[in-house]
Parts: sequence; structure tokens; C-alpha cells
Amino acid sequence: MAANYNNAAWFYDSLSRVVYGKALIDAQVYLLQYIKPNSSILIVGGGTGWILEEIARIHHSGLQITYVEVSDKMMSLSRKRNIENNQITYINKAIENVNGLPNFDVIITPFLFDNFTPAKLEAVFAHMHPLLKNHGLWLNADFQLIGKWWQNMLLKSMLLFFRILCGVESTKLPDFEKLFKQYGYKVVDSKTFFGDFILSKVYRKRTL
Ligand SMILES: C[S@@+](CC[C@H](N)C(=O)[O-])C[C@H]1O[C@@H](n2cnc3c(N)ncnc32)[C@H](O)[C@@H]1O
Repeated sequence: MAANYNNAAWFYDSLSRVVYGKALIDAQVYLLQYIKPNSSILIVGGGTGWILEEIARIHHSGLQITYVEVSDKMMSLSRKRNIENNQITYINKAIENVNGLPNFDVIITPFLFDNFTPAKLEAVFAHMHPLLKNHGLWLNADFQLIGKWWQNMLLKSMLLFFRILCGVESTKLPDFEKLFKQYGYKVVDSKTFFGDFILSKVYRKRTL
């Protein structure tokens, strides 16, 4: 079963501001410079949808966005966002249950993978990988643990909080870096935020 952020939808953005300041936003906005005009984009787990307004600020029109979000409360907040003259298709389902999508120039997964157990991540990744065009870009932002005690503590408390409230299955960070490597992705750019606890990374797909 997918984690469901319905119970957290009304306070999620405020809570993330209190804990991380603007870091979660900055980490995602940093990635948006890689979106070229007239791209087709798949966004998975966009939460309340603020990222749509940030994208529309850069590209007023010409984008074809597919927005997949499993929580219906998050989705209804997202639908109210101003997307300017871009085209958008909203799909209120877990990405692993969505079939028949076209191929995209760009995939964005903002703080999605930390919700998954390693086995679920592998399944979701295998499902999404074919959806990106060859040479397309995968923009991913998530936490990383590089040995600082407070990072592990903060992450564990966060996952426990969202496990109780939203049924998040994971208890530790799954190794998504390993999967990008395994599938032959090339790292184009990366930047860290909030010390080095948050990692934004741009990957290019190369057919093996
Ligand atoms: C940690 S929140 C991040 C929200 C947003 N990206 C942000 O940074 O503010 C993860 C989001 O992914 C959604 N989600 C979790 N599993 C999903 C799945 N399998 N398919 C689609 N959305 C999913 C949740 O409902 C939630 O809104």
C-alpha cells in the first residue's frame, strides 16, 4: 500500500518550513533550471503542488505536465495551483498503479523515495525508468545520510511521525543512488542543502 499523506495535507508545508526553513523548497527549485521549454514532465509525489507554481514562474506556457499524487487531499490542493498556460493532467493514484503513460523528457521525484522500503523502491523505479525518454533528465531531491548523528535522528523521527500519521512504510532511507547507478544514469549536476542533509541531483538516462 502507498503511504497516504491525507492526514498531513493541511499542515505539511508549514511543518516543513518550521523544521527546514526554505531548504526543501530551495532544493527543488534548484532542479527546475534543467527544464527546457516545451518539455513533457512527469511529477510524482508533488504534495500540495507548490512546485507547479514555481515551474509556471519559469515557463508560462508550452509544458505538458503529468502530475501523479496518491493523496486525494494533496491532489485537491494541487489542483488549485496556478499553472499559467501550461497543460496538465492530474492522476490521483499511486504511480505504481498508473499504466499507459507516454514517455517524458523530464521526471521529477521530490522527496518521494524516502517513503519506500528498499523492495518497494526497486519496484517503483523499475516501473518509472521506462517512462523517461533516452537522454531525458530525472530530477530527484531527497535526504542523504553521510554520517552525522543528528541527520539519522531527524530522519528516523520524521519517518516515525509520518508512519503513525500517514502509514509511511519505510524506517530508513532506501538506497536510491544504487538504483540510478544500476540503471546506467549519468550524474549531470548535484547540490546539497541544509548542511548536507538534503541532496538535489540531476541524472541523465543512457540506454545500456
Ligand atoms: C514527503 S511528501 C513530499 C511532498 C512534496 N514533494 C514536498 O516536497 O513538499 C511525499 C508525497 O508523495 C506522495 N506519495 C507517496 N507515495 C506515492 C506513490 N506511490 N505515488 C504517488 N505519490 C506518492 C505522498 O502522498 C506525498 O504527498
